[in-house]
Amino acid sequence: MENPFKFGSLVDAPYFTDRVKELEYIIQFLKSENHLILISPRRFGKSSLVRKAVLKTKRPYLWLNMQAVLSKEDLAAKLLKALLNQYKFEKIKYYLRNFRVVPSVNMNPMTDELTVSFQPSSDNGMTAIEDVMAMLQKVSTPDNKLIVVFDEFQSILEVDKNMDKQLRAIMQEQIGVNYVFLGSQESMMTDIFECVKSPFYHFGMLMRLSKIPYDDFKAYLTERLSSVTDSEELVADEILAFTSCHPYYTQELAFAVWNNLLLGKQGNVMQLSVDEIIATHDLDYERLWLNFNKTDKYVMVSVSMGNNPIQDRKLPTSTMTSAVLRLTKKGYIFRSDKYEVEDPFLQRWILKNVVD
Ligand SMILES: Nc1ncnc2c1ncn2[C@@H]1O[C@H](COP(=O)(O)OP(=O)(O)OP(=O)(O)O)[C@@H](O)[C@H]1O
Ligand SMILES: [Mg+2]
Repeated sequence: MENPFKFGSLVDAPYFTDRVKELEYIIQFLKSENHLILISPRRFGKSSLVRKAVLKTKRPYLWLNMQAVLSKEDLAAKLLKALLNQYKFEKIKYYLRNFRVVPSVNMNPMTDELTVSFQPSSDNGMTAIEDVMAMLQKVSTPDNKLIVVFDEFQSILEVDKNMDKQLRAIMQEQIGVNYVFLGSQESMMTDIFECVKSPFYHFGMLMRLSKIPYDDFKAYLTERLSSVTDSEELVADEILAFTSCHPYYTQELAFAVWNNLLLGKQGNVMQLSVDEIIATHDLDYERLWLNFNKTDKYVMVSVSMGNNPIQDRKLPTSTMTSAVLRLTKKGYIFRSDKYEVEDPFLQRWILKNVVD
């Protein structure tokens, strides 16, 4: 029997649940002339959701992971490569003639894989970016509008500190292309899109993604667990109690629990599965812990215990506040109705190794 849970990469049916309203909303939104910004903590399912919506529109799209972009020339090359993969080369190669900086485009005849590059230039690749972006607009047609998704968009400022200003200057002139910006670092993304001084201030509609609702996730788990247990409802409740409905960690834990039930493991299978997962991350957690400073550790313990670190009176509020900000920025904790440790397995590790 194949394990019915999946985690780590983008998911679609049969591993995709809920998000019905969000999906409908994004599809509808992409029919407008507006741009979309989607923010959530790490691994909530942004990329999966947007990819599903984009595929549903059946329109051409480019998907660019900004984390993988090394320089401005590289951004221009990756955009152009994605574009050449999306449209028939014969139909659009004509536009390349207008480029002021000539790209090198090669096709590997064995694999059909394209390689695209721009030589380093004195303007650090800005002309190349302008030319490629101009081409995006030209190939896009009103009845088959191009969608351009920038995943992990907050990394843009690591490519170049003026990149936001320069990109925005190009994009604001464009019509007939839908841009979608995804980001997992809440604070960086809000700095880019909600800070009045930022070039991308109010550039599009900002949407936040929450965890998957309890009842829906429970139904998803119950249906799949029933192949290995008669207490599927109980097990589903236990899994969700541990993961608080976090999409990724729920799938990760359900995967392990399902496996152990299939193998006929006895005793407390939940505990066993949690311990197994923690054991695989033990070294990483230890390294992470050693790199935290004293206040960070204090905050992580406080949040792990379910407390609000800011109200903790043991250290000055300003010290705690800046540690909370730093840890939120790095994604170790996030705020829903209260502060939470992003990774429930790390939380358990802290409670076991540091608090006990
Ligand atoms: N709708 C869903 N139903 C069930 N599981 C989901 C859903 N969306 C996401 N997941 C789970 O969460 C994992 C992460 O999804 P995804 O990579 O789309 O999230 P993300 O927010 O883009 O993450 P990152 O912050 O790493 O970019 C998936 O591998 C899957 O296990
Ligand atoms: Mg993603």
